[in-house]
Amino acid sequence: VVLVVDFGAQYAQLIARRVREARVYSEIVPSTMPVAEMLAKNPKAIILSGGPSSVYAEGAPRLDREIFEAGVPVFGMCYGFQLMATTLGGTVDNTGAREYGRTPLHVSKAGSTLFEGTPVEQSVWMSHGDACSAAPEGFTVTASTDVVPVAAFENDEKKLYGVQYHPEVLHSTHGQQILEHFLYRGAGIQPSWTTGNVIEEQVAAIRAQVGDKRAICGLSGGVDSAVAAALVQKAIGDQLTCVYVDHGLMRKGETQQVEKDFVAATGARLVVVDAEKRFLDALAGVSDPETKRKIIGREFIRVFEQAQLEILQEEGPEVAFLVQGTLYPDIVESGGGTGTANIKSHHNVGGLPDDIEFELVEPLRQLFKDEVRMVGQELGLPEEIVQRQPFPGPGLGIRIVGEVTKERLDLLREADAIAREELTAAGLDREIWQCPVVLLADVRSVGVQGDGRTYGHPIVLRPVSSEDAMTADWSRLPYEVLAKISTRITNEVADVNRVVLDVTSKPPGTIEWE
Ligand code: XMP
Repeated sequence: VVLVVDFGAQYAQLIARRVREARVYSEIVPSTMPVAEMLAKNPKAIILSGGPSSVYAEGAPRLDREIFEAGVPVFGMCYGFQLMATTLGGTVDNTGAREYGRTPLHVSKAGSTLFEGTPVEQSVWMSHGDACSAAPEGFTVTASTDVVPVAAFENDEKKLYGVQYHPEVLHSTHGQQILEHFLYRGAGIQPSWTTGNVIEEQVAAIRAQVGDKRAICGLSGGVDSAVAAALVQKAIGDQLTCVYVDHGLMRKGETQQVEKDFVAATGARLVVVDAEKRFLDALAGVSDPETKRKIIGREFIRVFEQAQLEILQEEGPEVAFLVQGTLYPDIVESGGGTGTANIKSHHNVGGLPDDIEFELVEPLRQLFKDEVRMVGQELGLPEEIVQRQPFPGPGLGIRIVGEVTKERLDLLREADAIAREELTAAGLDREIWQCPVVLLADVRSVGVQGDGRTYGHPIVLRPVSSEDAMTADWSRLPYEVLAKISTRITNEVADVNRVVLDVTSKPPGTIEWE
């Protein structure tokens, strides 16, 4: 394992992903973890991330010097670089000479371990106030910038390396190569982390964990639960029962995707619970967004629990495991423990109250989203499931502004299917993060269609681009695509006489309307 020590900000996750792109397994640890504990994990190498602090600030995170003396190769980036410099006796000054953004880097030692084979002049991404003016003893300076005399250094004998910039971001043109040089040349690691061996490892681990007992997995139609289920299915076959709750709030064709395509691809045993009426009854007369979310979440848990009870009754106490599609970022983020404001009560399909006694099987807990997609692909899941864009647990229930009824859902399903069809046809699926289609059910406006006046509802298109859904920008879709979607929706969907485009970023808007 390669450890990425997290000094705050968002860099550590990106670094961990880049290490895995170099086919080396990585894990993130907080900078507050004692060095002895880090070393006890037997890391093949350690990377120190960037972070928002100045090494001179009071309370700035530090590391015990031992980390540089244990014989484990270390690569410091940005804050990690400065920390390495000051800890080992180099000089970092608060010069006031800041560098931010794309910066030309002058490589002074082209044959060095990190820079071998990369251009003497290259563009890198900087973001710092303090600057290193003298490398620690025993280190060779390998690069500089117009502002910073020591922008990279290395001590090959002790296997210590550092760069002032952020090699993990794409703006650093040779960043990945430099990272790989550290891993392969500096630390002597063989790249061997592949989706194939993730599957092998997980299959073995699941078999060991579940033994001859049985497991249940809730399918939501999303990527994570589908891949988790497929992986467990591969490991324990018919000992797994999948449960899919059809709450009637899915988009057109999605339930069939689970019922047919998922089953065809995996051979899993699937129980489909048709709970549409129950959900619609519970939602009748409700238009407040948070109330809707709470009702959907509550009903979901009840229906899922009922299904579990039935399976338990049928199969006996052998059912001891619950499969969940928890991902690595969820683990890292919940380990961070910083409270964030509850902007919307997110309801994760498959969430259960604490008093149910299942042991969890979480085969994706080491993986990033793109790795999950690769595993899904390798397991033979259909493209529509593996490349699916995010879709909220409460489904179309929170994309109807106003009361949720069957008629309104059917109308929204048609409009949404048209938008998705046209976006796919235009090859825009990978470019946009997701495109909620929203029905303003409580709004009517006047229009004219054929020879007559209409008084219909508007449909909102909300295409966004994003990296992680925490922030988002509205996507600049080509006018022709928007025109096609608008014409088709107003022509083909009864009761809709207007299509509008949401041009709000997040913040201040959220991605969903409710
Ligand atoms: P917002 O609207 O908060 O959405 O900007 C951020 C991302 O989360 C999705 N979303 C949900 N996902 N359960 C989910 O599993 C939910 O209750 C939920 N609400 C929003 C949303 O689609 C977007 O990708």
